[in-house]
Amino acid sequence: MKIRKIIDKHIHEIEFLKIARLEKKLISNISNRDILIFDRNIVEIGLIKKLLKKFPKRCIVIKGHEKIKNIYNYSSIIEKIIKLGVQRKTIIYSFGGGTLGDLSGFLASTILRGVEHVMIPTSLLAMVDSSIGGKTGINSKFGKNLIGTFYLPKKVFICSDFLKSLPKREIACGYAEIIKYSLIYSKQLHKLLIKRSNGDINKIIKLSIKSKLKYVSDFREKLKSKNSRAILNFGHTIGHAIENSNFYKGNLKHGEAISLGMILELKISSLLNYYPKRVDNLIEILKKYNLPVDYNKYVNRKTIPSLIKKITFDKKVVNEDINIVLIGKNGGFIKKISIRDLKSILNQIK
Ligand SMILES: NC(=O)c1ccc[n+]([C@@H]2O[C@H](COP(=O)([O-])OP(=O)(O)OC[C@H]3O[C@@H](n4cnc5c(N)ncnc54)[C@H](O)[C@@H]3O)[C@@H](O)[C@H]2O)c1
Ligand SMILES: [Zn+2]
Repeated sequence: MKIRKIIDKHIHEIEFLKIARLEKKLISNISNRDILIFDRNIVEIGLIKKLLKKFPKRCIVIKGHEKIKNIYNYSSIIEKIIKLGVQRKTIIYSFGGGTLGDLSGFLASTILRGVEHVMIPTSLLAMVDSSIGGKTGINSKFGKNLIGTFYLPKKVFICSDFLKSLPKREIACGYAEIIKYSLIYSKQLHKLLIKRSNGDINKIIKLSIKSKLKYVSDFREKLKSKNSRAILNFGHTIGHAIENSNFYKGNLKHGEAISLGMILELKISSLLNYYPKRVDNLIEILKKYNLPVDYNKYVNRKTIPSLIKKITFDKKVVNEDINIVLIGKNGGFIKKISIRDLKSILNQIK
């Protein structure tokens, strides 16, 4: 099964397949001029072992982690690839989570002014989020993803068999983004999440990708459009502030911080009379998927001032309005809210 979407006149093609079919495809398509980049945590998987054996001189193995997305690493890998030999027809195949995918996409988009990239996401988050939409990038010492390009992979192959070896905590982080899609857009996804049957993972991934693609039709974000990419930030305004606040560094993963951010942003939606249902329903779902729900430790009278500071810094505004994503009867929408009001609402909620 394939999903195709035109983004800025380029075709974004996502194909779903089982590992045996993927293996056949890759073994017959990959050539000796291509480069393969693997996450170290998947090298014991049969398919990867075969590829490492077949193309020993064309493989690079990296341990996926946020820290690999830096300019020094980019520089050393790009020189390594150039030394191995690249041509205009070289294809970069990347197998890994979102960090390895973001870095590989940036490498592919800049080597020889752009060679083709085939992405095989292996974490749940990468399958439903980072491999979709064509954003590549690395971090600057001043912030995340500040260096990067818009560059669509030639193909994305989604194979949920890779999830068998993914740690439980990483699975939960992928679900945080999936639960986000179910709130901003997909009622069908919401129903599947409540049902929680293991057999539904492929359906869940497909509906998540379709939800993300709904909000991605051009590379530059159009705030005015009702399908703006900005709506994908539900849970992320407060979630990011929690994630990045120095007091708790290392404690929370991105998806876990977004879990808390979604609860708070849904509570705001409810307090402002946009969200008609019970916020407790969301809390139940988050718990089911092993995500944290206890935000009091992170958002309380003591921490609110520094969280607000973080939010205004992220959005580059002081004493002004910010755009926040709220949930109404028909899903996600963007609402302007003053920093003062946000502060007072957070103080009411905690
Ligand atoms: N480009 C985009 O549009 C976009 C969107 C969302 C997130 N992102 C980026 O994605 C990154 C997060 O991605 P992530 O959560 O996948 O992180 P990650 O790449 O660090 O992977 C998480 C962990 O899972 C391991 N792993 C991956 N696949 C595995 C498998 N099949 N079996 C066992 N272990 C496996 C990795 O080694 C790593 O330890 C962030 O850097 C974020 O900025 C990008
Ligand atoms: Zn996110």
